[in-house]
Amino acid sequence: MIKNVEIRQALPSDAPAIEALYPEAFPDEDLVPLVRDLEGSAAISFVGVADNGLVAHAAFTPCSLTERTDKVALLGPVAVAPGRQRQGLGSALLRAGLRHLQDAGTDSVYVLGNPGYYGLLGFKRDDDVMPPFPLLEGLRGAWQSLSLSEHKTQLRGQLTVPQAWRRPALWTP
Ligand SMILES: CC(C)(COP(=O)(O)OP(=O)(O)OC[C@H]1O[C@@H](n2cnc3c(N)ncnc32)[C@H](O)[C@@H]1OP(=O)(O)O)[C@@H](O)C(=O)NCCC(=O)NCCS
Repeated sequence: MIKNVEIRQALPSDAPAIEALYPEAFPDEDLVPLVRDLEGSAAISFVGVADNGLVAHAAFTPCSLTERTDKVALLGPVAVAPGRQRQGLGSALLRAGLRHLQDAGTDSVYVLGNPGYYGLLGFKRDDDVMPPFPLLEGLRGAWQSLSLSEHKTQLRGQLTVPQAWRRPALWTP
C-alpha cells in the first residue's frame, strides 16, 4: 500500500495529467503520441493519484496472437513522477492492473522493458512469442511475458498489435 496515493482505473478526465507526466518521467523520449493514441483505444489504463495530482500511469493494450484465440495484452508505457520513483508505486500500480486483467480472463501479458524491473513482478524472457517488430539483438532479453492463466500453457506465435503500437521506433529505442 502506497501512503496517500489512490490507485484506480484512469478516467477520460485524467488525459491532460497523463500527457504531462510522460515528458517528466522520460525526458529523452517522446511517448506522448503513443499515450494519446492509446487514450482513444481499447487500452485499459491505471493511475496513481496523490493529493497534489496524478503521479503514475500504466497502460495495458489488448492484442492477439497469430492463429490463436488466447486473451493477451501488451503492457506499456509505464511512468512514475520523478519525485515518487523507487517508493513501490510503479509496482503497486502494475500489480493492480495485472490483477484486473487476470480477473477479466487475460492469459498472458507481454512487455518490452528492463528485465531488472519487470522481473520483480514475475515477467520472464519469452522466446516463443515474437514481438510485432524485429528487435535489435541486444534487446531480445527485454521481451518478456507473464502468464496470468491457471493453465500455464506455453503460448507461441507472433503478437499482433493495434495501430497505436505500429510505429517501428517504439520497438527500436
Ligand atoms: C521504471 C519505473 C516505472 C519504476 O517505478 P517505481 O515506482 O520507480 O519502482 P518501484 O518502487 O515500484 O520498484 C522499485 C524497484 O524496481 C527496480 N527498479 C526501479 N526502477 C528501475 C529502473 N529504471 N531500472 C532497473 N530497476 C529499477 C529496483 O529494484 C527498485 O528497487 P530499489 O529502489 O530498492 O533498488 C519508474 O521508475 C519510472 O517511471 N522511471 C522513469 C522511466 C523509465 O526509466 N522507464 C523504464 C521502464 S523499463
